[in-house]
Amino acid sequence: MKVTNLVAAAALAAAAAGPSLSQDNPGKAGYEAHCAVCHQYDGGGVPFMQPELFARPRANGPKGGVIDMIMLGSKAPGAGQGEYSNEMPGFDFLSNEEIAAIATYVRTNFENNGGPVTADDVKSRR
Ligand code: HEC
Repeated sequence: MKVTNLVAAAALAAAAAGPSLSQDNPGKAGYEAHCAVCHQYDGGGVPFMQPELFARPRANGPKGGVIDMIMLGSKAPGAGQGEYSNEMPGFDFLSNEEIAAIATYVRTNFENNGGPVTADDVKSRR
């Protein structure tokens, strides 16, 4: 098989696997819809553009840190210090449930151990 065919086959396989895998996991689906474009599907980020999400402070520390980051992006308290050329937008238009699901996904994947975030946690942070 030619390399181009292999690439096309891989892309088709990914497209077929992606949505079906995410359907039962709103956090993963939300992450893929809103975050993966910058932080990548595997959380690897892009050097000098946006950080990887592995072992990151906000994904392992107090819940407020990751909630602020998702709601306010680079305008979150303490953000904007890094060497990243991109600016992270705020996602405060998402519901408390959506933000909680995405925050939980980030905090329980990519080698993070921050633990889950609830919709009430997000609500009390608004
Ligand atoms: C336009 C690109 C972009 C998008 C989209 C984006 N981010 Fe970011 N993200 C960044 C950049 C750039 C930073 C570094 C921000 C800074 O310090 O100003 C960042 C930082 C973070 C951090 C902080 C990492 C740490 O140091 O602890 C977290 C967590 C995070 N993003 C999660 C998310 C989540 C979850 C979403 C989706 C809801 C998302 N990001 C969407 C670009 C993006």
